[in-house]
Amino acid sequence: MDYCQKIHAMNAALDHTPLAMVDTYGCQQNEADSERLRGYLSQMGYGFTDDEHQADLVLVNTCAIREHAEQRVLGNVGALVHTKRKNPNQIICLCGCMAQEPHVAKKVKESYHQVDLLFGPHALWRFPELLWRFKAAGKRVFEFADDPGSIAEGIPVVRQGSVKAWVSIMYGCNNFCSYCIVPYVRGRERSRKPEVILEEIAGLAAEGYKDITLLGQNVNSWGKDLDCGMDFADLLKAAADIPGEFLLRFMTSHPKDASQKLFDTMASSEKIAPCFHLPFQAGSDRVLKAMNRVYGRAGYLDKVRRLRAAIPDVVITSDVIVGFPGETAEEFEETMTLIDEVGFDALFTFIYSPRVGTPAASMEDPVSREEKLAWFQRLVARQDEISEAKHRAYIGKTVRCLVDGKDEKGLTARTGGNRLVRLTNGAEDLIGRFADIRITGANKWSLSGEAV
Ligand code: 5AD
Ligand code: SF4
Repeated sequence: MDYCQKIHAMNAALDHTPLAMVDTYGCQQNEADSERLRGYLSQMGYGFTDDEHQADLVLVNTCAIREHAEQRVLGNVGALVHTKRKNPNQIICLCGCMAQEPHVAKKVKESYHQVDLLFGPHALWRFPELLWRFKAAGKRVFEFADDPGSIAEGIPVVRQGSVKAWVSIMYGCNNFCSYCIVPYVRGRERSRKPEVILEEIAGLAAEGYKDITLLGQNVNSWGKDLDCGMDFADLLKAAADIPGEFLLRFMTSHPKDASQKLFDTMASSEKIAPCFHLPFQAGSDRVLKAMNRVYGRAGYLDKVRRLRAAIPDVVITSDVIVGFPGETAEEFEETMTLIDEVGFDALFTFIYSPRVGTPAASMEDPVSREEKLAWFQRLVARQDEISEAKHRAYIGKTVRCLVDGKDEKGLTARTGGNRLVRLTNGAEDLIGRFADIRITGANKWSLSGEAV
């Protein structure tokens, strides 16, 4: 915070309020991290803009999960050469998961001279100090901390909305799924202490936030490193006991740790949203083993059965990877039959992308890109049918939803299970309130209905 003040003093001496643009890629964890970076920037005296031409500082918070995400980032950072040419004082910072990958950091250092400051997730809390170092010496700063250290609490936050909020409850991942870069760039699991999490949630509830999502790469193993006598189900229950009218969500869960106790806890409280994101990744036992997922198809289906027994109307969503190295056509068919057996409400589908340094990147991968794409398209087409049928089943029902915003097509709302509902009536004063909505229409993406 001392560094924030020093930079604030420098900014106050300028003839204008400097503007920062924060460009965020990837998952909700990154969105939550960007809210902290904005918190710091605000303390340093920056205003905000979405226009890189107006920005005095551009902060790109990157994602390394797939190659496509990385290429988009590098393309956009490449284009910042032009804005910097027009405004040589513009400061360009690159942070997030890509910055923690040694080969990316090297490439940026050597070939992206417009980038002044680079730091990975481990150094996020030190952003003000690193920015100060750059400003004071005028030399590029590349921070390669390998050690995540302990969790920094008390970082200021500028949240993006006033209805929905993210609360990180833990950082990192211990699972080392063989395709995944996350444990390498975000480090091992570290849980925030229950009292700081519950205090943050109580503060959000008091401020009027209505939809609060607890975030972590694997929330079900929250607390294992703390020795605090609580597990994730206990934390969720304690959060639900906080007074106020709000819904609690959480993501993401690893099937191996999704426990009966958690299902029962969800069933016991109306404040815990009836939705569960439970990535299955593949339908074949052999592929799951090669992915190091440590559960099998039958085990996964059993979790789904028990989840539905505890919460009959639960909305279940999932992630799946198509074309993991060595996956055969028969094995892919097992993914097709699994999605039919479960009937997910929505599915996030990805084509396997090799990540430098992960075990899967050195496995033999004989299936062509075209064939994987054909599998992928079949999977998406089938899931679209399933999603549409699931959505059609809402027609005629009246569902309690949170009206959460507005776009060019009108008011939007979310069911407890987080399905998008487009409102055909209602005024803006509904935003931020729970309303009963009669569902009148549905397609594969969303529902439509009227507030009654
Ligand atoms: N290739 C493709 N998809 C991946 N995911 C993670 N790593 C990879 C990769 N290398 C997917 C998984 C995960 C989601 C967030 O991204 O399905 O659950
Ligand atoms: Fe990656 Fe697996 Fe950890 Fe999820 S559980 S972040 S897929 S290593």
